[in-house]
Amino acid sequence: MGNGTFGLDREAIILRSGVREIFTPHTPIDEVDHFFGREEEAARLVSVINSPGQHILLYGDRGVGKTSLAMTTCKAILQQLQGGHFFEKRCDSGDSFASIFEDPLLETGIDLSLQEQSSTHHSGGNAGITTFFANAGVRSDRSTTKKTKLNYRPDSPSWVANQISHLKGIFLIDETDAISKEDDKKKLAEVIKLLSDSKSKFKIIVVGIAKTGEELTAGHPSVERCLKEVSLKRMSDSALRKMILNGMKRLDIIPNDAVVEKIINISAGFPHFTHLICLKCAENSLVSRNRHINEKSLASALEASVEESEGALRRLFDTTLRYLAKPQEYRLLLLGAAYCRTPDFRISELKNKLEDTLNVSVDPKLLSRRLGTLTKGEGKTILCRPARGVFQFTDPRMPCFIKMALDSERASLRITALG
Ligand SMILES: Nc1ncnc2c1ncn2[C@@H]1O[C@H](COP(=O)(O)OP(=O)(O)O)[C@@H](O)[C@H]1O
Ligand SMILES: [Mg+2]
Repeated sequence: MGNGTFGLDREAIILRSGVREIFTPHTPIDEVDHFFGREEEAARLVSVINSPGQHILLYGDRGVGKTSLAMTTCKAILQQLQGGHFFEKRCDSGDSFASIFEDPLLETGIDLSLQEQSSTHHSGGNAGITTFFANAGVRSDRSTTKKTKLNYRPDSPSWVANQISHLKGIFLIDETDAISKEDDKKKLAEVIKLLSDSKSKFKIIVVGIAKTGEELTAGHPSVERCLKEVSLKRMSDSALRKMILNGMKRLDIIPNDAVVEKIINISAGFPHFTHLICLKCAENSLVSRNRHINEKSLASALEASVEESEGALRRLFDTTLRYLAKPQEYRLLLLGAAYCRTPDFRISELKNKLEDTLNVSVDPKLLSRRLGTLTKGEGKTILCRPARGVFQFTDPRMPCFIKMALDSERASLRITALG
């Protein structure tokens, strides 16, 4: 069938199917029904949250499933074990210590957006009645207004901790690596320590990257005792398989075994890519009314997935190849590197991968030179060299992107690249 004006017919079929609620590459999971694997990590979160004085630092690569794990477990704890509020703060570079706690403070009746409190004295029949309102945009014609600075100290860890310590619930502070000032991170650590000391029932989950742990504890070694670290590794193949099969079953779509295994291989433990590729496969299948997904339909889904991938990955990949003299050669090397078991690899491993997976034999010296070129340049490069003889993708998700982008070119790359 055609896609209709502006693709509206296609969209209508996709929307009716509910596929975008099942495969959600851009939204974290917050329901147990859609959540797969991670049993051990979830159990650890539950036990730490329920241990007096303990809080959590959850860290791992982007797209590995941190927010989903935190949201799903928090929701389950609050629904099944204890009541309480759930607050979520997603930090960005504009956030400071004072802005992080806005919502929990609001719950205690402290509205930080009210910088000052105005008390208005009415001189008419209502004399003596005092009203309180925000300082902005409110006028009174027949009154004298006295402005009092509110005694809020949102910059002070002890003041913040004092205000919120009686609350009950969980506060998820996500993307903390985006907070730019070191000092703000130290203050956050201080609040956690103070809440812990007072055995508050208000628990904090800090989500970030590994460096976040060091930054939080730098000024406060004692924070380590109350901040339990949970490192989130990549998802297992079996959890990814369950995710694919379960979602497809709900849509009454049947992917063949080779397709399922290929999606798992490309995803390399990142559920984001599994959701993205499955979404594109399922959308095509629904629109073409073909319940079976074979490798040909997977190939076109991969193209669509590349189109929808995060701009940062696409740009880094494109700019890397744009100015190289022999882009085909580099494409082949990058594809080989993407097939290596870990994001860091040695020349010997890459040489074997190229031979086993792509059936190409390359002189190690040439490999070394070419890889060296990929570590040099202005700005962020696609590879870096963390140690002598070891190369690494600067973005751990890049191998997944490369496999999606170049997998269909495997055969032609082999012929044209290393002549
Ligand atoms: N345990 C899981 N089961 C199913 N899907 C998951 C799981 N964890 C993450 N996802 C999916 O993977 C993607 C990335 O997850 P997210 O929690 O946003 O990662 P992070 O916070 O680490 O960047 C989201 O689309 C989410 O739907
Ligand atoms: Mg996240």
